[in-house]
This record gives sequence, C-alpha cells and structure tokens, in this order.
Amino acid sequence: MIDGPFTVAIDGPAAAGKGTVSRALAERFGMAHLDTGLLYRAVAAQALAGADPVAAATSLMMAELERADLRTPEVAQEASRVAADPEVRRALVGFQRRIARQAGGAVLDGRDICTVIAPEAEVKLFVTASAERRAERRFEELRARGVETTLEEVVGDVRARDERDARRRDAPMVRAEDAEVVDTTAMTIEEAVEAASGFVERALAAR
Ligand code: DC
Repeated sequence: MIDGPFTVAIDGPAAAGKGTVSRALAERFGMAHLDTGLLYRAVAAQALAGADPVAAATSLMMAELERADLRTPEVAQEASRVAADPEVRRALVGFQRRIARQAGGAVLDGRDICTVIAPEAEVKLFVTASAERRAERRFEELRARGVETTLEEVVGDVRARDERDARRRDAPMVRAEDAEVVDTTAMTIEEAVEAASGFVERALAAR
C-alpha cells in the first residue's frame, strides 16, 4: 500500500493501450484508477440525449460513468466534441484533481493529465502507437463486443478524434515535455505493462 498521494498520469491518443496499461498498473500497485475519458463520454451521452453539456458536466454523478453505452463510436465522437468546450473541461477539473491526490495513489488516463490535471505527478507517461495499429486494435475490440463497423470507419473515427483532440485550444492532447514515451506499436500488452511498471517502480524507489 502506497503512503499518501502518488500520481501516475497517462496521456495519449485513442486506442494506444492507455486503458489497459492504466488498469494493470492500478491493480499491480494497489492504486485507484480513473479513466477520465469516461467523464467526457458521460457528458456526451447526455448531450446526445438533448442536455446542455456544461450543465451535464457540472452535475455529473459517478453512477453515470457506469452506463454500458458509453463505449460506442458515436459517444466517442461526441465526447471529443464536448471536450473542446473550456467550460465543460473546467467543470471536471476539481473532481479529477481530488482523485489524483488521494491517499494510496491513483492512476489517471486521458489527454491532459500530465499537462493540466496533475503536472506534479510522480510518474508521467505518453502512451502511443501508430495510427494503423491503434485503428486495428479498436476495430478488433468493437467487433468482439458485437458493434457492427468496418476498419475504414474505425480509421476515420480515430483520425477525426485525434485531430480534434490535438488541435483544440484548451488543454489539447500533447506529450508533456517531461513525460516518458511508451510506444506500444510493436509491443504485446504484457510488454507495455512491464515498460510502464518500470517507471512506476523507479519513482516509488526514489521517494
Ligand atoms: O479516452 P477516450 O477515448 O474514452 O476519450 C474520449 C474523448 O474524450 C476523447 O476523444 C477526448 C476526450 N478526453 C479529453 O478531452 N480529455 C481527457 N482527459 C480524456 C478524454
């Protein structure tokens, strides 16, 4: 069990393996885990149902992060859109920072964790992979879940989101200067988790 706060901040583009790596690190080191994309997806699901995104972000409740329908390509695109609104982002900062600094440690993954949410994080990683590899992985994942789609559609989806996420003015997706790059293009899940664990172990040893 980790004493006091200890933050592992993980950013990167869609389907690079951030989620898998984050969950594995949280489990291995006994830390909490927050997939911050879910916050934007939950706001997006409400926006698609007609709600005002800023109002939805302001009153977001944890239970809404467990909705089964947040993992669809449609919600992902809308999440990328609502995430470009500075007011939506501002409404979600406080919650994320509280989780990041909670006792026992926490892994947060998203697009602006190293740069905006937790620039003081003890471990900062930018998990990435080639666009082709990411699209293939997302395609397999969606197919396994029974979502009907084509590889071309997934490539288009991933590319459109990456561009929007990287180009927005407020908290764009970018590798923080002091974030370590974990390129998972040619790695297995186990190799990616081992690489990321190495950074966490070194940071824990240096405390
Ligand atoms: O990680 P994800 O694919 O579930 O994220 C969905 C969208 O939410 C992503 O395209 C951009 C946005 N997002 C963000 O702007 N900032 C974060 N920290 C996490 C996600």
